[in-house]
Amino acid sequence: MTDSKIGPWKTTIVLGLLLIGMFGMAGFVAQDDKDAEIERLREKVAQLEAQLAVLSTTSRYTQAELVQEERLVPDINVMYRSENVEPIFNVLEAESREIFAGRFKLAELVGPPPGAVVADIGAGTGFMSHVFAQQVGPSGKVYAVDINPVMMGRIAENADEAGLTNIEPILCTDKTVELPDESVDIAFICDVYHHFEYPKNSMTSLWHALKPGGQVVVVDFHRIEGVSRPFIMGHVRAGEEVFTQEILDAGFELINDHDVDYLTENYVLRFRKLDGQPEHNEK
Ligand SMILES: C[S@@+](CC[C@H](N)C(=O)[O-])C[C@H]1O[C@@H](n2cnc3c(N)ncnc32)[C@H](O)[C@@H]1O
Repeated sequence: MTDSKIGPWKTTIVLGLLLIGMFGMAGFVAQDDKDAEIERLREKVAQLEAQLAVLSTTSRYTQAELVQEERLVPDINVMYRSENVEPIFNVLEAESREIFAGRFKLAELVGPPPGAVVADIGAGTGFMSHVFAQQVGPSGKVYAVDINPVMMGRIAENADEAGLTNIEPILCTDKTVELPDESVDIAFICDVYHHFEYPKNSMTSLWHALKPGGQVVVVDFHRIEGVSRPFIMGHVRAGEEVFTQEILDAGFELINDHDVDYLTENYVLRFRKLDGQPEHNEK
């Protein structure tokens, strides 16, 4: 009797010890995994630091040109950095979006002549790059510039399918457009300026990429208290006046505030590159 009562307890204790042992082992294994992960991340950081050191000596932009600036809108590009690009297509190419619905009129307004070089900065799905590519023809060129490598791949595939050989996808950084100096006639920045995390840096690098007298067409949301949708008030960090001043400060002059009846939520501004370095670079 006594033995049969003790038996299950012994079994329970042995099983308990076994479980404690297993969890203990698992703990060690988990600790080993964590150590290995930390080591891997340390190596990655070291590699990135090495790359950064090389970049800072080979970059076409000097430290003074890429003025130090805080990241203004840290989480705004979460969706646009994703590898899952289908939601991006759904949002940007919705017929209910006035930019997509008005894309041909908008391209006509931007008006690059045949042979021109256009930079579609923050190209997204690249639908405007396609329209520009047809406008500028085979003697012209469209740089489709964005921070998302997966989108770059899709833009290249779609251009191939459409037989457009004059679209060049350019993967840029959150601070620089990564275009050759003095290579662009017209830059188009549509619903992108408010997505610039480092607007001074992006605009300074764009200033370098434009040919003398090159133009920038900026389309962005009206942000007016009591008028604009709550989404816009929360999503867009500032309105037309603030963005205009920032762009003027980056070395541009305003040459047109277009009156467009087919857009109600967005304004269209046209700037021209001024000669000489942007003012803040002369400090
Ligand atoms: C609202 S979408 C607009 C896309 C496109 N221009 C359109 O109107 O359909 C904003 C785009 O800006 C891109 N973007 C964000 N920061 C950028 C930067 N610093 N330089 C270039 N593109 C950027 C995003 O990846 C995204 O494709």
